[in-house]
Amino acid sequence: MSKGTNLATIAVYSLKGGVGKTTFAVNLAWASARNSSRRTLLWDLDPQAAATWMLSANNGGRDEAQAIFSKDVNVESLIRPSTVAGIDLIAADTSLRGLDRLFFELGKKKRLARLIEQLGKNYDRIILDCPPGLTETSEQVLRAADIVIVPVIPSPLSERALGEVARYLVQRGGGHAPILPVYSMVDRRRRLHRTAIEENPGWPTVPMASAVEMMASKRQPIGEYAVTSPAAKQFAFLWQAIEKRLAKL
Ligand SMILES: Nc1ncnc2c1ncn2[C@@H]1O[C@H](COP(=O)(O)OP(=O)(O)OP(=O)(O)O)[C@@H](O)[C@H]1O
Ligand SMILES: [Mg+2]
Repeated sequence: MSKGTNLATIAVYSLKGGVGKTTFAVNLAWASARNSSRRTLLWDLDPQAAATWMLSANNGGRDEAQAIFSKDVNVESLIRPSTVAGIDLIAADTSLRGLDRLFFELGKKKRLARLIEQLGKNYDRIILDCPPGLTETSEQVLRAADIVIVPVIPSPLSERALGEVARYLVQRGGGHAPILPVYSMVDRRRRLHRTAIEENPGWPTVPMASAVEMMASKRQPIGEYAVTSPAAKQFAFLWQAIEKRLAKL
């Protein structure tokens, strides 16, 4: 955690696309704000801008998302309230397509981490929604995060991807934040899912649920419209587990 503040940075990251990263990021931000009364910022680092679309009042990025990293822009000037009380947002837009190249050219490995440090007086929890892949951006994210949440769809392929990230981190050395794998889109009727879960009984799980799918039409975190659903409860439970881990750091 950043020195002298209560700020903790939670990255939702995976090598793989479409595993539930944005779904996690939005719902964990909700749990942070509502269940833990944390001053919460959701930072969308994905040029697809799905989290931004979900939680932003005004559509259409102004192509300013990348400038935060290249220029001496005041980070705080890009923060805006989201549509959900208690969650602030740094929006993504298509300018982030150039982010990997920019980070590469900048050559500053901790650029994102330094920007986050500047926010320590205003926020307790920053949630990072990341694009998939092992890129310059994910490298920045892995350096900036206090904990890395990795959604894993129960299948041998997904677990292999998780292993690849772990191996990469060991090879590159220099230490890294703890990684918390979480089973995503779990369907216990499927034997493959049940078998995978039995191998890692300690991992938290989020069920495959239509209440989660509905986030796209409601444009809200699940807690706003189905707080008592099993999926919402699992996100609340996952958030508690994250808080516990952070308390031990
Ligand atoms: N638990 C769930 N139950 C049902 N549908 C889900 C669940 N989690 C995610 N989805 C759906 O799966 C799709 C992919 O989820 P999401 O966008 O969160 O993944 P992602 O990892 O952020 O993808 P990308 O790599 O493209 O950013 C979305 O349509 C989402 O609504
Ligand atoms: Mg996403």
